[in-house]
Amino acid sequence: MLELANKRVLLGVSGSIAAYKSAELVRLLCKQGAQVRVVMTATATEFIQPLTFQALSGNVVYSAWDDADRGDGMGHIELARWADVIVIAPASADFLARLRQGMAGDLLTTLCLASDGTIAVAPAMNRLMWENAATKENLAVLKQRGIHILGPGTGGQACGEVGLGRMLEPEQLARDIPTLFSTGILSGTKLLLTAGPTREPIDAMRFLSNRSSGKMGYALAQAAIEAGADVTLISGPVALPSPSRAKRLNVNSADEMYDAVMSEVAANDVFISAAAVADYRPANPSKEKVKRKDDNVDLALTQNRDIVASVAALPNKPFTVGFAAETSDVEVHARGKLERKGLDLIAANQVGEGQGAEVDDNAMTMYWADGSQHLEKTTKNKLARQMVAIIGEHYRAES
Ligand code: CTP
Repeated sequence: MLELANKRVLLGVSGSIAAYKSAELVRLLCKQGAQVRVVMTATATEFIQPLTFQALSGNVVYSAWDDADRGDGMGHIELARWADVIVIAPASADFLARLRQGMAGDLLTTLCLASDGTIAVAPAMNRLMWENAATKENLAVLKQRGIHILGPGTGGQACGEVGLGRMLEPEQLARDIPTLFSTGILSGTKLLLTAGPTREPIDAMRFLSNRSSGKMGYALAQAAIEAGADVTLISGPVALPSPSRAKRLNVNSADEMYDAVMSEVAANDVFISAAAVADYRPANPSKEKVKRKDDNVDLALTQNRDIVASVAALPNKPFTVGFAAETSDVEVHARGKLERKGLDLIAANQVGEGQGAEVDDNAMTMYWADGSQHLEKTTKNKLARQMVAIIGEHYRAES
């Protein structure tokens, strides 16, 4: 199996004589199945031509600020989002100092600042610069922020000195980069996921729905893809772009979602029910737009089928994960649903008062029969990666 199949590596090249070695690194990453996009600092382009990287990666190379906005749909935020990991190789002493400061004076530092994903640096510099207290402090701060430091190696340097500070060899970096994907934990698994709200028609124009934005479900789909899963996303109506490597099926009502899930589920190993499925639908939806008549109108509702409970009751059920959004007594309600619906895991959070449905940050607790794990408030993307890690571990333990 190609170790980087399906993975997107954004390679940042900063100004160092080691920049020429990154050409070989691009070749090795592509050979392992990665999609590679290269971003160079202005100084890097004085050491090596962008065309070299373009030819090896098969993609345009970005360097100047406006390069990322030249009509290929890859503005700087899109580029940062596109990447599963950002690797800066070589990372010069100057680049590390700017990264530590959170500067955004050029495209590459901006991308790092705009990313909440994995970032790794492969330092390359003279041994005295490496040993300087300023560099050491910069590295310590970056490490503490969760940035991975690859190397440096030791040996002869371009300046004629011998010591620590050489960029790791491309072969070594190409071995290290796959390990940045903490998760290969869902490699080879097929995962079905629902996300977003449902719309329950009242008449030709009107429907009942809820505040779900779909963000948590979509972040989970993305995290599962990064963890190696083959993802099918059944989505209610949301205003979000599809994760590009997922198969997406659009539905409106809970009934349609039920049918879509039931026709897909047999092929899947894991099912995550992140959709905010309406519990009830209007009993007699009208095909015509209903006219205003009386002062008061009664709307009869009938219960929808419970999708996640139906999946969990299948004879060959997949590993099944549900959600519980609660305004009070989170643990009691979550454990109740875990048991009542026959789930393997449930992700529960408190909603209301600026938490839950429409916001970007969230906290969550995952419960299973004999344990639980709390995940601190963070972006939905980071939360999704932590949740996928827990789902993956439990799925592996049971299969
Ligand atoms: N769910 C589902 N089908 C439904 C309703 C809910 O699959 N018809 C799933 C949701 O996707 C979620 C979990 O069930 O994973 C919890 O949904 P929730 O509405 O909180 O559960 P209910 O059993 O309806 O409990 P409550 O009384 O709190 O509404």
